[in-house]
Amino acid sequence: MILVTGATGNLGKATVEFLVKKIPANEVAVLVRDADKAKGLKELGVDVRIGNYHDKESLVKAFQGIEKVLLISSSDLEDRLGQQKRAVDAAKEAGVKHILYTGVSMQNLEKSALKPFMGVHFDTEKYILDSGLTYTFLRDNLYADVIPVFVGQQVQETGINFPAGNGRVPYTLRTEMAEAFANVLSSPGHENKTYEISNVESYSYQDVANAISAHSGKTVAYNDVSVADFSKALSEAGVPEEVIGFSLGFATATKDGDFDIPNTHLEQLLGRKPSSLDQFIGEIYQ
Ligand SMILES: NC(=O)c1ccc[n+]([C@@H]2O[C@H](COP(=O)([O-])OP(=O)(O)OC[C@H]3O[C@@H](n4cnc5c(N)ncnc54)[C@H](OP(=O)(O)O)[C@@H]3O)[C@@H](O)[C@H]2O)c1
Repeated sequence: MILVTGATGNLGKATVEFLVKKIPANEVAVLVRDADKAKGLKELGVDVRIGNYHDKESLVKAFQGIEKVLLISSSDLEDRLGQQKRAVDAAKEAGVKHILYTGVSMQNLEKSALKPFMGVHFDTEKYILDSGLTYTFLRDNLYADVIPVFVGQQVQETGINFPAGNGRVPYTLRTEMAEAFANVLSSPGHENKTYEISNVESYSYQDVANAISAHSGKTVAYNDVSVADFSKALSEAGVPEEVIGFSLGFATATKDGDFDIPNTHLEQLLGRKPSSLDQFIGEIYQ
């Protein structure tokens, strides 16, 4: 039996939807913290189990009879490392054999503007290694799905104003990551492996602007604005300080090339090339 956590979220739900096309639904379980959000999952025929990363006993109970757990990193930032350590401890206590963890694909962690936010993924991997459980690390680069968040909903009117310089990112569709995870979960040979889940090429914000221009028919400029101008504009638009800091962290890490590590692991796991920037921008801005 395979269990997927975070199954009410985007990545977990998509993974379960791919997984039940590959193996019988009665061999799949999901961990959710809110049963009301799991109606769609129940209809797929999977076993819905209730648990919370903050409550180890709930996890030990939910992981009974499970051989493999896909631990989707927590979106709850309060004691995130503690939550994930608890999930690893619970897996071990419940007799789970193999844990797969969705971390991050990036380089230069020590110097990265995102170290406080991303370091937890590598700390979790270390904790899993130390646990002695069989592991698979699925290190995710940035979702292509977040591009509209960074460029703004009115991008065709405003252009892209983001202090990311010429930094490049091998953006990847979240559904393609999920498809690859379902392939990994349902086939042998992934024990104690680390996969960098990235696109095969990287894209700059100038590339993003060019692709949006080509698909929308409107010329969209990329402006590598200063950090001060970016912060001022967001602040004047009423964006909370915390969110401004978070966006700036991603802009700076992008500019510094922290995510610029394209890789063919995802292509191998999918058995085809991942969608390109042109393809996913075409779907969003037509
Ligand atoms: N690579 C990227 O670009 C990128 C971007 C965004 C996020 N991420 C990371 O990737 C993860 C998956 O992405 P996503 O888009 O699927 O995020 P998402 O839609 O926010 O899903 C997060 C899932 O985690 C569950 N969760 C949160 N706190 C929990 C807790 N204390 N106990 C049990 N479950 C808990 C949520 O449950 P509820 O439905 O009950 O809230 C939800 O099912 C995120 O959690 C985040 O760590 C990566």
